[in-house]
Amino acid sequence: IKFSPLQPTLSTAMRLLVLSLFCLSLAAPRSAQPPPPPTAQCVADAYPPPPDTLVPTARVNLDEPPATRWRQVVAPRAAGMRALLGQFRQFLFNLTGSDSLMNIVDKEMVPLSQTLPEPFRSELDGVSALSNLSLGEVTLFNVFYELFPLCTSILAEDSSGRLFHARNMDFGLFLGWNVTNSSWIIADYLRPLLVNVEFYRGGRLVFLSSHYAGYIGVLTGLRPHQFSLSVNSRVSAKTQSLAGVVEWLLGIRDQYWLGVATRAVLENATDYGQAKQRLANWKLIAPVYFILGGAKHLEGCVITRDRAAGAADIWERAAAGNHSWYLLQTNYDHWKSPNPIDNRRGPGNACMAKKGQDEAASFSGLFNVLSSIPVLNKLTVYTALMRVDDATLVAYRRQCPDPCAPW
Ligand SMILES: *[C@@H]1O[C@H](CO)[C@@H](O)[C@H](O)[C@H]1NC(C)=O
Ligand SMILES: *[C@@H]1O[C@H](CO)[C@@H](O)[C@H](O)[C@H]1NC(C)=O
Ligand SMILES: *[C@@H]1O[C@H](CO)[C@@H](O)[C@H](O)[C@H]1NC(C)=O
Ligand SMILES: *[C@@H]1O[C@H](CO)[C@@H](O)[C@H](O)[C@H]1NC(C)=O
Ligand SMILES: *[C@@H]1O[C@H](CO)[C@@H](O)[C@H](O)[C@H]1NC(C)=O
Ligand SMILES: *[C@@H]1O[C@H](CO)[C@@H](O)[C@H](O)[C@H]1NC(C)=O
Repeated sequence: IKFSPLQPTLSTAMRLLVLSLFCLSLAAPRSAQPPPPPTAQCVADAYPPPPDTLVPTARVNLDEPPATRWRQVVAPRAAGMRALLGQFRQFLFNLTGSDSLMNIVDKEMVPLSQTLPEPFRSELDGVSALSNLSLGEVTLFNVFYELFPLCTSILAEDSSGRLFHARNMDFGLFLGWNVTNSSWIIADYLRPLLVNVEFYRGGRLVFLSSHYAGYIGVLTGLRPHQFSLSVNSRVSAKTQSLAGVVEWLLGIRDQYWLGVATRAVLENATDYGQAKQRLANWKLIAPVYFILGGAKHLEGCVITRDRAAGAADIWERAAAGNHSWYLLQTNYDHWKSPNPIDNRRGPGNACMAKKGQDEAASFSGLFNVLSSIPVLNKLTVYTALMRVDDATLVAYRRQCPDPCAPW
């Protein structure tokens, strides 16, 4: 990948904007408080979910020009993308009493998009044209998903050696809580944007992934017969992500945006070993957890990343104490305790252990674990189930009716 030269430089206003958005994202949840969580569950009857929650599938042909290849994904969901951006605009207006922040977005995000490598730069142009959102808004959209997903990911292997990878995507604190509807506002706007994408090249399926329409990176995906990947954000190291964005704006471009790195790995890494090597060693804008599943017995690991090149830690399935048949990762370093107000790890592990390998290492078992409060919570937007050996990726839109955990 070639990164573009330092020009155009980005203004002070842009740096201010990123700082403000970052601070707002931390402050917003406190403004309207959701109710306290009920006790932890381990359900057994959530699978199969209602058919109308199945996320639809669309196709991206990598042989088409970047500007038009997202048409099938974006065009049918353009109104939903505009509704989300409208909500965001309104939120900023309510908070600051003016349109000035959003006007900065419209102007200043454009030069940021120009600093991205191809094909991303042209794809963002294309998404903008297809959605009738400004290039600034589309770029903001993409930067945002990089920084704020909270999630639970699980790798598992059944007794016959079949590998599974499942995840909940939790996203929503940012726009605040809807008291009337007892839901996170942004999660309500994201669910209609969900779409699974099949990426083709030369007439062949290259990889599969689950997306919010308009986001061109990958947060959940699989390369048939080779590897599966999910990304969880690393909360404890959050301040580092801001440093990465600021460095990028200042012109230090020898690092990967998350979505750029994951797209490149799914598109071009040919096997598990190569994917692991790249995900562990590429320099990144933000710290993150990569949950990487393989195709063979005991293949699979959680890569805990700092920004600098080289992995902070690679946690192999084989090293997972008395349960090498699975690994479960949320948003905290596996060698430390999770934040007590956000402990999805303890209940998730307890549920896996209670079900045991025979029940849990399957689509139905994993879906049930991921449907148990607080692993399932008000932030959960989708649950994805992956099987690398038969190239299966299915995703379901999730709701969590009251009483439910807020996160
Ligand atoms: C903005 O404020 C209006 C009026 O108080 C309110 O109805 C609306 O829900 C708010 N929107 C957001 C996104 O905060
Ligand atoms: C696209 O955006 C332009 C400018 O905001 C507007 O005039 C036009 O009606 C929009 N078209 C659609 C199909 O939304
Ligand atoms: C909150 O939920 C109510 C009831 O579903 C809905 O009418 C309203 O538009 C929602 N508010 C926002 C800001 O989305
Ligand atoms: C209100 O919440 C329900 C269930 O959580 C959801 O299906 C719906 O989209 C929400 N409505 C609005 C307007 O956000
Ligand atoms: C994957 O490799 C091809 C061929 O070298 C290149 O054109 C493409 O941009 C790469 N994809 C990504 C996402 O880096
Ligand atoms: C695994 O070890 C933990 C403590 O190290 C224990 O609590 C748990 O019961 C063990 N699980 C099994 C299935 O043996």
